[in-house]
Amino acid sequence: MDCKDKEKMRVGVDFNYMMEKSLGEKGIKDSELEAVKGKAAAAFDYVKKNRGRDDLFMGWTELPYNQDEIVADILETAAAVRKKFKYFVVLGIGGSALGPIMAFNALKHLRYNELPDEKRGGPKFYVEDNVDPVRMQALLDVIEPEKTCFNVISKSGATSETMTQYLIIADVLKKKGVNLPENMIFTTDASRGNLIKIDKSFGGAFKKYVLPDGVGGRFSEMCPVGLLPAAVLGIDIKAMLDGAAYMDKLCSSPEISENPALACAALQYVSMNNGKNINVLMPYSDNLKYIADWYCQLWAESLGKAVDYEGNTVNAGTTPVKSLGVTDQHSQVQLYTEGPYDKVITFISVGKYGCEMPIAHGCEDIPDVGFLGGHTMQELIKAENKATAYALMRAGRLNYTINVPEVNEFTLGQLMFLLELQTAYTGAMLNINTYNQPGVENGKKATFALLGKSGYEAQKAEMDSAPALDNKYVV
Ligand code: PA5
Repeated sequence: MDCKDKEKMRVGVDFNYMMEKSLGEKGIKDSELEAVKGKAAAAFDYVKKNRGRDDLFMGWTELPYNQDEIVADILETAAAVRKKFKYFVVLGIGGSALGPIMAFNALKHLRYNELPDEKRGGPKFYVEDNVDPVRMQALLDVIEPEKTCFNVISKSGATSETMTQYLIIADVLKKKGVNLPENMIFTTDASRGNLIKIDKSFGGAFKKYVLPDGVGGRFSEMCPVGLLPAAVLGIDIKAMLDGAAYMDKLCSSPEISENPALACAALQYVSMNNGKNINVLMPYSDNLKYIADWYCQLWAESLGKAVDYEGNTVNAGTTPVKSLGVTDQHSQVQLYTEGPYDKVITFISVGKYGCEMPIAHGCEDIPDVGFLGGHTMQELIKAENKATAYALMRAGRLNYTINVPEVNEFTLGQLMFLLELQTAYTGAMLNINTYNQPGVENGKKATFALLGKSGYEAQKAEMDSAPALDNKYVV
């Protein structure tokens, strides 16, 4: 893609409806943004200075630049998988699943698995990110395990959900006489973790991809975690990485007015300090529906922290909410417009949809319906997006829009990098560790204890001795 084409596909941010000029006293004042300028510049410097540092889990910043060999290897593997297998199943959870789901939904046909083989052109695709037995059974009901490539994605190889899925699938495959390395690919830590142990027990026969040391799960979509599933789907992963690099360049200034990710971070930071506790992401696109799920994890796990770097109790973070335009106009927008002033709504607006879908003429004698004929669905969804943002602004509700010219690999790469940088800057402004997740680890340990894992006896005893449920509070 040349520079002109890239410029045409540039993702941008319009935050007019966050500001006093549009919202009056409910809006953010220029002086409030001015007041956090120094903090924002310091956050920018922190991210810039520590780019790529594995010890700080900031390896994600370099993923658009340092994966040429890995990408070549992934493309080769993907081509072989596409030839050999009828189904491709990701086994993973959290950061090991939400990215692949997002990219699949954004860039492939919305009814991909239902397309006839010749139109689909690649294996059917499933991401299993739960341990609901009904869902596992449903998967087994629709795939042929011996014709399926399973991509087990787990950095630790110790996540109960993913390893449960592994055990069940490994058993199914063994019973069918399949040699596991023929039908499984591991994406995991380079040298540690249980998938490495399993691989060793098979003499190193599994195809393996590395989830780099300095890349945490929620920042991992642009490493093999996301790149392999995407390539198997025929998604142009080089264009995705190119998009991320392009957004990186667009965010190379410490000035809020010149750096879209820093602008979003500063707006979120000021809003947080003004008591806005809820951060809604509302894409007006079914293709982008799951970017909201991916973002919810990115934001929630990164910023929801008890203490800051000085050890002060801060209980930082705002609650991310996923919403879909126009669907949730008929569900949540009433609350956004008239409920508490506790939200920032981020719209993702699409310039040009994958198709227009003309609306046929008809019902001319019914004014409520007749006016629609002759327009297109694209016009309608865009008008509703604009109208909702406008109505919220008129109601004094903070909202801003990320404009995406169209949904493709290049713009998705930009969007992801924008939201990752925004999260990293916000975390730095809050002076918290954006990259750990002690709360998640605590839950994992409690599960180990409940299921009798050795080494967790003390925790089990503690849980057993916790105050018993009082019948008074059971109805
Ligand atoms: O963002 C994270 O680090 C987590 O959501 C992890 O991705 C998730 O807990 C899965 O961990 P693992 O990759 O070790 O199985």
